[in-house]
Amino acid sequence: MRKISVIGAGYVGLVTGTCFADLGNQVICVDIDEEKIAKLKAGTIPFYEPGLEEMVRRNAQSGRLRFTTSYPEGIKEAEFVFIAVNTPSGAEGEADLKYIRMAAEGIAKVMDHPLIIVNKSTVPIGTGDWMAEIVEEYAHPEIEFTVVSNPEFLREGAAIGDFLNPDRIVLGSTNREAAEQVAQLYLSLRAPIMITDLRTAEMIKYASNAYLANRISFINEIASICEKLGADVKEVAIGMGYDKRIGPDYLDAGLGWGGSCFPKDVKALEHMASIHGCHPQLLRAVMEINRDQRRLIIQTLREIVGTLHGKTIGILGLAFKPNTDDMREAPSIEVIHLLTSEGARIKAYDPVAMEVAKGIMPDVTYCSDPYQMAEGSDALIAVTEWNEFQHLDMVRVKELMRQPVLIDGRNIYDPQKLGELGFIYRGVGRGYEGPTVISEVKKAAS
Ligand code: NAD
Ligand code: UGA
Repeated sequence: MRKISVIGAGYVGLVTGTCFADLGNQVICVDIDEEKIAKLKAGTIPFYEPGLEEMVRRNAQSGRLRFTTSYPEGIKEAEFVFIAVNTPSGAEGEADLKYIRMAAEGIAKVMDHPLIIVNKSTVPIGTGDWMAEIVEEYAHPEIEFTVVSNPEFLREGAAIGDFLNPDRIVLGSTNREAAEQVAQLYLSLRAPIMITDLRTAEMIKYASNAYLANRISFINEIASICEKLGADVKEVAIGMGYDKRIGPDYLDAGLGWGGSCFPKDVKALEHMASIHGCHPQLLRAVMEINRDQRRLIIQTLREIVGTLHGKTIGILGLAFKPNTDDMREAPSIEVIHLLTSEGARIKAYDPVAMEVAKGIMPDVTYCSDPYQMAEGSDALIAVTEWNEFQHLDMVRVKELMRQPVLIDGRNIYDPQKLGELGFIYRGVGRGYEGPTVISEVKKAAS
């Protein structure tokens, strides 16, 4: 049993703290957000993450997991302090490190015994060294500390499983002994553990996210070509994925990548590269293709239904991906913005993200289920591939709609089946013959 403090109780911090407690350690999570800590003390999770609430309650009840807003209380007994604060995009796309600075200063000012400070936030290359300078500036000169980089690779919606069954643990430090002590915390997970230097560890995180975003943009570019030439990108991805050198993951074409990390991390890496004299053209193309995906789908819709002014469009799914209520950089926000700027009215349904979405897009009509959303709609756009959307009664959906138009931004439906039901269906990169005309819609609607 080790004593661990986690600074920042968001998606990464709360999952990290709770999983370490579940592995038998004594954990305290520190956050500056008083409301969040009050909720956590009451056993409520401030966001949706499958399985987390139960795990937090169980570990809190056993006394292994505690919460506080106080740095002195959080640090006083800790052997390891994990930092998991947010590192949002700054004005130029750079990672804004103000919360990292606050955390490093906060730790330094109260630490009165040797500490291993482990950074889990995604930070620009060189930040670990900079953090060490900050701690040195504020801490008592005789108190020893080491900074270790330990980037996190979990996905939202699958966070607990990813934390407990990681593909690898990456640790970076100038002090091998400190990195090995952190490695001990993870031994029971039986994952490969790689120990490297600080800067390399920090780069592994950016390179991994940028590579995954790159794969998605690549398949989206292939999708656009498929669409023009009559091939089906879903089948293409399956065929490519059988190749062991390629693999099947992160090849789902659609509205592109969103969320709190890919967009900000690709931008930050591009920025970092540019200001150090590189010419990161691939990263730029990866971002441009992603932006285009949302615009292309609006164009597809326009081609089918004509002007969007006065049309009612139903949005199926709002969260940036299934199994989360996270709306940060969700493709739905841009899609809805593009539609409303052309005068469309929006109805929307999402199983868990509507409360969060209401705060961001108050003018949308939020529906209690997908059928209420379909009622009177001129077209539906599937934006998030929640499982339950695959099992809708599509005959009922069609009957409720004013026009049976379905734009499948995540390729979740079978084009042939929907065609047989009388839908005008368009997926992403699923070749169809010839341009669609508005009269086709009228024929299907009559
Ligand atoms: P988040 O916004 O959900 O949580 C961050 C928390 O830190 C907030 O609760 C905030 O109040 C708190 N905080 C900010 N400054 C603080 C301070 N000085 N002291 C104490 N608490 C403070 O963020 P997140 O999604 O958990 O991401 C955290 C970091 O992890 C980011 O760098 C992100 O890029 C990285 N990351 C995120 C994920 C993910 O799936 N969300 C996965 C891997 C890595
Ligand atoms: C991503 C990475 O997968 C994690 O390894 C990483 O730790 C995390 O970012 C982070 O640094 O925060 P996450 O953002 O939770 O995790 O979600 P993903 O499941 O990776 O999906 C990201 C986006 O890509 C979503 O918008 C999703 O819809 C999209 N996506 C994903 C596709 O468009 N196609 C795919 O084939 C896969």
